[in-house]
Amino acid sequence: MSNVTQSSHTPTIDQSSVPKCVRVCQNRTCKKQGAAKVLKAFAALPIPDVTVTASGCLGQCGNGPMVLVLPDMVWYSGVQPNEVSLMVEQHLLNGKKVNQMLYHRFHAQGLKL
Ligand code: FES
Repeated sequence: MSNVTQSSHTPTIDQSSVPKCVRVCQNRTCKKQGAAKVLKAFAALPIPDVTVTASGCLGQCGNGPMVLVLPDMVWYSGVQPNEVSLMVEQHLLNGKKVNQMLYHRFHAQGLKL
């Protein structure tokens, strides 16, 4: 007897088991807005199983520094170096988005007042 069950549903990937990757845009506009310091702040807080990489333009110029967390597809905009520790603690270590930092274009709850 087998424990394998068959399903007609499309297989889903348990995203909690997929290593996270943080992409920090280092292209022109984001760089002018301080993206290099944001990348440096991430580098100062290394997290096991989380890769932080410099990225080319993420296509959202003018809203930077832009940060994209994969595979979650969570976008953060206007990220400041002093906000990185909050992202690390809340999102990368505890799996909760930082609502007040979300990019409003892709996450409605990220509207900044
Ligand atoms: S320069 Fe960063 S999103 Fe385009």
